[in-house]
Amino acid sequence: MGASHASSELVRFSIAMPADLLEAFDTQIARRGDGANRSEAIRDLIRSSLVKQELRTPDAQVIGSLTMIYDHHTGDLTRRLDEIQHDYTTEIVSTMHVHLDHHNCLEILALRGKGKRVYELADKLLGLRGVKHGELTCAATDQSLER
Ligand code: NI
Repeated sequence: MGASHASSELVRFSIAMPADLLEAFDTQIARRGDGANRSEAIRDLIRSSLVKQELRTPDAQVIGSLTMIYDHHTGDLTRRLDEIQHDYTTEIVSTMHVHLDHHNCLEILALRGKGKRVYELADKLLGLRGVKHGELTCAATDQSLER
């Protein structure tokens, strides 16, 4: 992050994305009405992502699920997904893998452990190139659910 920008100063940057993805996003924006535009819609997405992160409880015990959809033909994605998961055997309680079609896989991980470790795992997996959709649903637990 550049420290040279004042907090509310608008900064322009360009984003590369598949045309069909942008088209679908524009359609969604159009449904919001006249005032809606791409910049505002992307600002909203970023704000909501930051808020979500603030709700994290790294020091608490958490339970949750991580859902991913990816194309298993993407580079060495499956190997990397595997590689990372093998470093979190304590946190990964169970996994389910569904071969959706010729290209796409759905993978669901049941997670339990220290928040910090669970978020770290989710960030690593969802950050991999080729993971098209990813969502971590997580909640802090009370003592009775702790190991
Ligand atoms: Ni598969």
